[in-house]
Amino acid sequence: MTLLSNCTAKSVKDAAKSLVTGQLVAFPTETVYGLGADALNQRAVGRVYQAKGRPLNHPLIVHIASINNLTKWTKDIPEYAIKLAANFWPGPMTLILPRTDLAKDYITGGQENVGVRVPSHPIAIMLLDEFEALGGYGIAAPSANRFGKVSPTSANDVKLELENFLQSQDIILNGGSSSVGVESTIIKCIGPTPTILRTGAITISMVNNLLGIKIDASTQESIDQIRVPGLFRSHYAPSAKVFISGTPTIGDGFIALSKFSTPLGAIRLASPKNNEDFARTLYKGLRLADSKQLARVFVIPPTGDDIATAIRDRLQKAAQKE
Ligand code: TXA
Ligand code: MG
Repeated sequence: MTLLSNCTAKSVKDAAKSLVTGQLVAFPTETVYGLGADALNQRAVGRVYQAKGRPLNHPLIVHIASINNLTKWTKDIPEYAIKLAANFWPGPMTLILPRTDLAKDYITGGQENVGVRVPSHPIAIMLLDEFEALGGYGIAAPSANRFGKVSPTSANDVKLELENFLQSQDIILNGGSSSVGVESTIIKCIGPTPTILRTGAITISMVNNLLGIKIDASTQESIDQIRVPGLFRSHYAPSAKVFISGTPTIGDGFIALSKFSTPLGAIRLASPKNNEDFARTLYKGLRLADSKQLARVFVIPPTGDDIATAIRDRLQKAAQKE
């Protein structure tokens, strides 16, 4: 496994070639790092599941270079989905739409719909462009972490997370720290109105304002409901136990907005200035808890209906018992 820093046009081109020959390429996106494979190569996609230790019925998002490629992977696209794509792509949003024959069961987990996203990180876009120039159709990529764990927001985090599960010819592209820091908003675009399956930087009110509708956050279906019943475990979780209420004591980790002072004896892991900064630094802070081998980390979740909604969602899942 090679970690490529200072990504040049040549190294990104070489990474695209590696995808074509069936290797895996971890790459930066503005949300979190993804572990990519040629979405039409069943063997390579199988290796993504293996490297993550992820159950096969959890579908993968297909990353494409531009909205122009949407109809390759999806059909029966509602007008509101076109509007969402036109306004929020490239960016931190995934659309779930009915699949074409290109999206095989090994991508969708056997479902009749597929998740598609155009990321905005320049290296992701460059990689997608190069890959498509070589005849590729899309890069299947989940977050580049072991199943149930914290998503990586830097190339080094990917290395620490997956180096024992990748092969020597696989590549990690280093594109710095992810600027958003939490995973994309997932919007199911099937039926007369959209459903938000996972919150993210594209907020419910941004969607409502754009489409002139009124989605109610409390009635939204969760992505977990789509998964196999009975499979219930924490997600986005570090090894340390996460608490979203209560007070830390000596030796416990602590993450909160900078306006909150650190309780006596607690170990400050992040002091974000605002909610965007919170999203950007949360996973780093949770990883720091593990590298310091802390048993517990206490987080004061941010308030508000901006990206704070996504942060609270991830924290609730991280704090869930296995
Ligand atoms: O920001 C992101 O979305 C990152 C970057 C790399 O793009 N990717 C990411 O992928 O978070 P992943 O696989 O870790 O999370 C995607 C979630 C999974 O829970 C998966 O089950 C769900 O989206 N998903 C994907 N396709 C779906 C589909 N067709 N229907 C329902 N859920 C789907
Ligand atoms: Mg993930």
